[in-house]
Amino acid sequence: MKLGVIPGDGIGVEVTAEALRVLDAVLPGVEKVEYDLGAARYRRTGEILPDSVLHEIRGHDAILLGAIGDPSVPPGVLERDLLLRLRFELDHYVNLRPAKLYPGVRTPLSGDQEIDFVVYREGTEGPYTGNGGVLRRGTPHEVATEVSVNTAFGVERVVRAAFARAQSRERKRVTLVHKTNVLKHAGGLWQRTVDAVAAEFPDVTVDYHHVDAVMIHLVTHPERYDVIVTDNLFGDIVTDLAGAICGGIGLAASANVNPERLTPSMFEPVHGSAPDIAGQDKADPTAAVLSVALMLEHLGEQQAAQRIEAAVRADLASRDPERPGGTREIGERLARAVS
Ligand code: IPM
Ligand code: MN
Repeated sequence: MKLGVIPGDGIGVEVTAEALRVLDAVLPGVEKVEYDLGAARYRRTGEILPDSVLHEIRGHDAILLGAIGDPSVPPGVLERDLLLRLRFELDHYVNLRPAKLYPGVRTPLSGDQEIDFVVYREGTEGPYTGNGGVLRRGTPHEVATEVSVNTAFGVERVVRAAFARAQSRERKRVTLVHKTNVLKHAGGLWQRTVDAVAAEFPDVTVDYHHVDAVMIHLVTHPERYDVIVTDNLFGDIVTDLAGAICGGIGLAASANVNPERLTPSMFEPVHGSAPDIAGQDKADPTAAVLSVALMLEHLGEQQAAQRIEAAVRADLASRDPERPGGTREIGERLARAVS
């Protein structure tokens, strides 16, 4: 197994080190190549993602990414030209984000809900394509557009992946999340696609929620969700709230997947580089560690993945919420537990 590692910026570096510590403990001998992409390289050389590096990265079995973004770089530059470029170039059309409330974890909700759903966020289309522009910039008559791109091909493949996943789960329910009452063109395509694919999965229950209502339901009845399928931007928003109700984004893992395996999939915590706490051994590496579990599952190392999840579950159950431990300490605990 050959792994490309992009620790990136801020706490990305710290949590990635712990994620690798746990990986080495559960599955020794994985070959790793580290890439110094991110703010430091950009400042030093002006490079963000050289084509030669992208080409090399394509040769790996998977990519582990820490976090991208730094206050020294104008906002959006690294996010778009590094993180989003990787997702687009590697055709990571499934952005998979599990939301699970583990026993013992503090949630802002009442705490007696059982939360266990997965979000299938489309990863290569929607308003993220950069399709838009500005007219009469800086004038009172400025017009700015950001066109959401939704293709039949792109929608169908992520919807199909979501149904396949639902079929393997106990509750077998897919919820389409959109805003079809306003976004009629894109919404229509998503709804028609879900209806068509649903016909091929008669054992899967299907429903539809407007994205604004989902913000309510996730707080009042999160247990009702099983598999959510949605577009790139709605998925971005939904998964931040999903992270918050499951104990915070310090615990939220994600996978940018190309299910056909034509390219390496990329695994990263949902959180960002958190420059305010970077370098202080404060960041919780659990999301990065759980992202390693998603990676191992994707690569067919189910047993190793399960060992990591079990270790995290036990660790969360026994943590003192006031003093969970520092980045290294948590990483060392989890590494010990899986070895
Ligand atoms: C995420 C992030 C990214 C996104 C940003 C950093 C471009 O918020 O992974 O959820 O919007 O996808
Ligand atoms: Mn986000």
